[in-house]
Amino acid sequence: MKVKKKVYIETYGCQMNFSDSEIVASLMLDEGYEIIEDSGDADVVLVNTCSVRDRAEQRVRKRLRELKALKTKNPFLKIGVIGCMAERLKEQLLEEEQSVDLIVGPDAYRDLSALIDQADEGQKAINVILSTKETYSDITPVRLDKNGITAFISIMRGCENFCTYCVVPFTRGRERSRDPQTIISEAVDLFNKGYREVTLLGQNVNSYFWDENGKQTRFFELLEQVAAVNPLLRVRFATSHPKDISDELLKAIGKQHNICDAIHLPVQSGSNHILKLMNRKYTREWYLDRIAAIRKYIPGCAISTDIITGFCTEKKEHHQDTISIMKEVSYDYAFMFKYSERPDTLAQKKLDDDVPEAVKSERLREIIDLQQQLSHESNKRDIGKTFEVLAEGYSKRSDDFLMGRNSRNKVVVFPKEDFEKGDYVYVKVSDCTAATLIGEAKRRRVNRQPPARRSEA
Ligand code: 5AD
Ligand code: SF4
Repeated sequence: MKVKKKVYIETYGCQMNFSDSEIVASLMLDEGYEIIEDSGDADVVLVNTCSVRDRAEQRVRKRLRELKALKTKNPFLKIGVIGCMAERLKEQLLEEEQSVDLIVGPDAYRDLSALIDQADEGQKAINVILSTKETYSDITPVRLDKNGITAFISIMRGCENFCTYCVVPFTRGRERSRDPQTIISEAVDLFNKGYREVTLLGQNVNSYFWDENGKQTRFFELLEQVAAVNPLLRVRFATSHPKDISDELLKAIGKQHNICDAIHLPVQSGSNHILKLMNRKYTREWYLDRIAAIRKYIPGCAISTDIITGFCTEKKEHHQDTISIMKEVSYDYAFMFKYSERPDTLAQKKLDDDVPEAVKSERLREIIDLQQQLSHESNKRDIGKTFEVLAEGYSKRSDDFLMGRNSRNKVVVFPKEDFEKGDYVYVKVSDCTAATLIGEAKRRRVNRQPPARRSEA
């Protein structure tokens, strides 16, 4: 029997990249490769990369230099860079990082096996062609994150928003949506395998759109269809763009129990001056109106955000606008970053990256401290409340405790007793930290339900 070649996949960056790695794993299995968990035994190492900030790229470059050492042990080892850095840097990466044998962009994964063969013949291999159609809709991802309870489903690819700071429209290409039938089938399949939560992924899910012979599916309709797979299947989604988040969507979330009450709505800045320069296409007032709509249609909904600090021309007063919008919304959670100028973006071409590094750091520190406080206060408000928690596995600290999340995406830890992962457990919160709710299990929700309906696809 032919010995299977072994592939090790390492992933950096956003959820979309982790989802893509699962597609890559599936494609490699179809080509007769074995997926392994130790880079030391690999014939091929694939590094799925992120370009969104310079630091992310530097981390990958450091890792590539480390991986080079594996080649002394196995001279036949091939190292591939896939994903956003592959797309952004193309051949340049082959010149700059000697350890790299192949470069494959996010729309060229079907070509991976042929490119590895080419690399095995001693040639450098590259495919960075972007597609307007590829959605990998027929590929059943191999679930690499093995909790067996939560999974990502990619529903669209690319982005055409061209926020001026962002490299994604260049690395992931045109926006395209995936056939809804294949999305539903994937959700049904996951449910039948014991999964209890899916997160629908795209750079801007609110502009999801599918038209088949005049029958149109918009995002809120897709969300309802996935939620209809089974009441015991929770549905989440990311990421929303404030300019596109509609009342219809919020109403759908509000009325459907298993569509989670958590919205990630990146604000980026609280200042209209900065938002305009970022080409975000909304104002502070528009954003706050959307927050009011969320609060109206989904009482108690958790709201999280992304913030960039120190964008071009940001003065103290603009920074204060960000501080004040954080307080006004009182975010439950936030991802916060210093602005990192990216080559070829509009901001790099037209604007001056004029906020000194030390000021960026100081402002970042300030918003991180504020968010820590807001998150802690939000958690403290939950003490005494009872939530339905989907158990995902053991808590990090002890096997006597389980961890899960409530609908609002907050991590909840509670004594294991006789509960198991995959159970929905009612937990009364008795204590908290800024990051975690701690509680006692009240009772288990009956977990036996008919299997998910069969998909027509
Ligand atoms: N610098 C810093 N942060 C960035 N993001 C995107 N591009 C940049 C950049 N050039 C952040 C945004 C986005 C998140 C995924 O990454 O906040 O929402
Ligand atoms: Fe980047 Fe803006 Fe697209 Fe998000 S919406 S991926 S920040 S261009």
